[in-house]
Amino acid sequence: MGASQQEQGPLRVALLGCGVVGSEVARLLTQQSADLASRVGAPLELVGIAVRDASAPRPLAESVDRSLLTEDAEGLVTRADIVIEVMGGIEPARSLLLRAIEAGAAVVTANKALLAEDGPTLYKAADTAGVDIYFEAAVAGAIPIVRPVRESLAGDHVRRILGIVNGTTNYVLDQMASTGMSFDDAVKQAQDLGYAEADPTADVEGFDAAAKAAILASLAFHTRVSLEDVAREGITAITADDVAWAAQTGHVIKLLAIAEAVTGDDGAHGVSVRVHPALVPLTHPLAGVRGAFNAVFVEADAAGELMFYGRGAGGSPTASAVLGDVVSAARHRVLGGKGPEESIYAALPILPASTAVTRYQVRLAVDDRPGVLAQVAQVLASKGVSIEAVRQPSEPSDGTQGDGPTGVAHLVITTHAAAEAALAATVDAIAVLEPVREITSVLRVEGA
Ligand code: HSE
Repeated sequence: MGASQQEQGPLRVALLGCGVVGSEVARLLTQQSADLASRVGAPLELVGIAVRDASAPRPLAESVDRSLLTEDAEGLVTRADIVIEVMGGIEPARSLLLRAIEAGAAVVTANKALLAEDGPTLYKAADTAGVDIYFEAAVAGAIPIVRPVRESLAGDHVRRILGIVNGTTNYVLDQMASTGMSFDDAVKQAQDLGYAEADPTADVEGFDAAAKAAILASLAFHTRVSLEDVAREGITAITADDVAWAAQTGHVIKLLAIAEAVTGDDGAHGVSVRVHPALVPLTHPLAGVRGAFNAVFVEADAAGELMFYGRGAGGSPTASAVLGDVVSAARHRVLGGKGPEESIYAALPILPASTAVTRYQVRLAVDDRPGVLAQVAQVLASKGVSIEAVRQPSEPSDGTQGDGPTGVAHLVITTHAAAEAALAATVDAIAVLEPVREITSVLRVEGA
């Protein structure tokens, strides 16, 4: 035991929430108390665990004293040095954190929805009170990504972040790719395994990923980005056929959270933040992220390319990130100093997703007769969109014939990079060509 630890009394830690993550935080705080005390320089004393119903049965490690459970969250946050919030939701989490900050406590939260919706209120309150606010667990669970972007890369210039930040959707897409199963069957399997909620909307419609994208974009671009700034598209329209086609063209479909520096039509610099499914080339490191794992790929001017990989959800992985934050905040209490404040000096405009430069892969069914491909190519040329590849499969994966009695041919056109607005206009113009029967799918290609 070091000298400072002998002099320093225990730091009081309050826990708000005792679900899958909270119970693991309580377990680690109590079972690893000796190590934590040595790392911090003072013991961490868990002084209470606020829950809605203290008498409800809950699995708690034997090391955790059940008498710590309390329904008085308000009272608890005012008698703590560090308040951990893992209850989720906007209220009462926001009010309790604000109350804790007002009372002088450092706060650690895993609440991505709250930070994406109203983070600035909390950051401002913490800055005014001169206390720490840490939130590593709010993005990609166990993966250290908030601290690297907020601190380790603070001397660099981030150009782009591409993240697989939702494990449920990555599991669903991975199952579709590896077994050929439908979207609905893959979601059902994810629910059976406990990855997906009974109502999977937040995951499959991209809301969860969008909240994380907003948090990462704010940190990376020193600009306030909230959930409503994020252009969002989920994976519900992805078919087994899309996934099979992705494989045939050397890609895999991933739900990506993207935050990148972009230049608007007027030459002004801004940020594009979006969540959507995209084709990722099999050669890109993100393509190898399987199952429910998460990964965040960062491109920075000086650092170059970085990738952070690991478990994005679950009790222990998320608790690991929470505990790391608790140790940081506790060290400041013992040794002095403070974590970073909100950095929004750049105040870049959030530009529409149509400003982003991307590539499209368009699948379409056309009349199978001479000159049709030339007509389609002419539209692309007229919009200034360059073609990277055209494939005309003889046997598309949907089992229909590419040519023959139906007189229908299937084309797969992959473009070179162009502004999203030009690509979208091109697809609209192709769709109304007389020999075009159907645009089967349009997917962006990212990470090339
Ligand atoms: N539901 C999220 C996921 C975990 O599937 O990754 C919590 O953000």
